[in-house]
This record gives sequence, structure tokens and C-alpha cells, in this order.
Amino acid sequence: MQTIIARSLDSLKKNLNKVKKSKKIGLIPTMGSLHDGHLALIKKSKKLKFFTVVTIFVNPLQFNNKNDFKKYPLQEKKDIDIIKKNNVDLVFIPKKQQIYPHGFSTYLKEINHSNILCGQFRTNHFSGVLTVVFKLFVLIQPYSAFFGEKDFQQLFLIKKMVKDLHLEVKIISVPTVRDSNGLALSSRNKLLDDKYLKIASSIYKIFKNSKFKNYKNTKSLITYLKKRLINSGIVDIEYIEIRKSKNLEKAIILNNREKLRVFIAAYLKGVRLIDNYKIN
Ligand code: PAF
Repeated sequence: MQTIIARSLDSLKKNLNKVKKSKKIGLIPTMGSLHDGHLALIKKSKKLKFFTVVTIFVNPLQFNNKNDFKKYPLQEKKDIDIIKKNNVDLVFIPKKQQIYPHGFSTYLKEINHSNILCGQFRTNHFSGVLTVVFKLFVLIQPYSAFFGEKDFQQLFLIKKMVKDLHLEVKIISVPTVRDSNGLALSSRNKLLDDKYLKIASSIYKIFKNSKFKNYKNTKSLITYLKKRLINSGIVDIEYIEIRKSKNLEKAIILNNREKLRVFIAAYLKGVRLIDNYKIN
């Protein structure tokens, strides 16, 4: 079947109405610049035999920095080719006016876990994410929506929104997809040249090769990790923290009683990198 390209709300609605009764919809929200991480989400939806909808919308609401928004890599033609090649059923590419019509003033906000980790440094970022994802859920009414674990805090907050607001959509997460050097795939990686991509990949290598068991508390572990990162060229570290996977609470002691993850955000050549790694 040919991929349907919907660029308006009307076209989206008309096309979804035709399939809604007979098929479950699987939604993959994206901001374009598709890579293998997105393909893993698409493949999962296709494997579950869902009518697979990909959205491409660079959501201005989630950018706290104008320059970051301006610099965000765009490649619509290439994305459409990738989407067609992967037999996506429908791609929705709205204009800003359709998602945020003139006078739009209603936002979603989570108040307990949005101001830690990335949220601490990106004011209103998660309000922007939740608002657009909620809107996409309303417009598309998916049975399932797919998100990557690379954006672990985003995934956590979307699951929380679904629970808190009794939304009827099943959130399916997919492990982080990495390049051959271990760097977590991200659309922003396109802004780095080979030299910096190699430096960026040291984040994963350091996490992978660290003997977490040798540390009793998170403070000494973080000091060790920071030192190794700086020595590898990752000098502009925004945060590095160890938190509990289930509720994102800060961890003090390292033991096996609770699942923990190390979370990092760092800048390399002005490009923001994030990653997280299960440590037990
Ligand atoms: O992860 C992303 O690409 C974006 O935050 C999302 C979920 C598409 C919302 O704009």
C-alpha cells in the first residue's frame, strides 16, 4: 500500500476515519530528520500490524532556545523517502498554524518531575512536549504510541500524563539505538562532524566500561565519571546524575534493591547530547 501524505487536519481526519474501525493505529511522533532510532519505533509498530502513522512536526513550544530551534536539522524530502521505503501507512506533516492556531493558549504541565534533569535547564520544554503529544493523541487517537528510551525523562512524563489523565493509549518504549561506536542516535548528531562524533561516543564507552559495583555511593561514582568524561573531551557537562528508573528520584546509595540509571546532558561544539544508561 502507498504511504498517504496528510498535510492538513482535514486530510488526516478523512484518511484516519477510513481505517479506524478496522485497524489499530500505531503512532510514532517525530520532529523529522529520521534515523535508525525512529526506524526501530516504526518497525515495532509494523510488527504489531498497526496502521502506522508517523508525524513530522518540529514543535516550537518545546524549544527554550531560539537558536536551537533555528538550527534543528530538517530533511523533509529524505524523511518522506525513508517513510515510504519502510511502508509507513500515513505521514502527517502539519504546519505550525494547524497545531497552534492563532490565539492558542492552553498548555499541559506536569509539576513534579518536569523541573529536574533536562527540565532544570530547559524551561517549559516538557510542557511543550506534553502539549504537542496530547494534541497528537487527540487528533490521531492511536491504540499505541511509540517512544525511545534515549529520551527517558520524556518517556517517563508521557507515561505519567497517560496515567494521570486516563488517556486510552498504550505507550510502548524501545531501547536506545546506537551507532557502531555506541553513540545514542539523535537527529542532532547530524550537526557534528566525524571528529566530534567520535568524542561524543566516549559517553557510552565510559558508561559501558565502568565498574559501577566498585562504588558505594553515587557521589564518588559521579566524580569518577566526570573525570573520565572530561579527559575524553566531554568538558561541557550540563548535568550528570544517578536516579531511580521507576520514579526519577535521586539515588544516594548504590545497591541492587532499586533499578538505577545514570543520566547525562552535555554540549559538544554547541550541540546538546543526552543519554542514559542502566547501571544495575
Ligand atoms: O522526541 C521527540 O522527537 C519530540 O519530543 C516529540 C515526542 C516528537 C514531541 O515533539
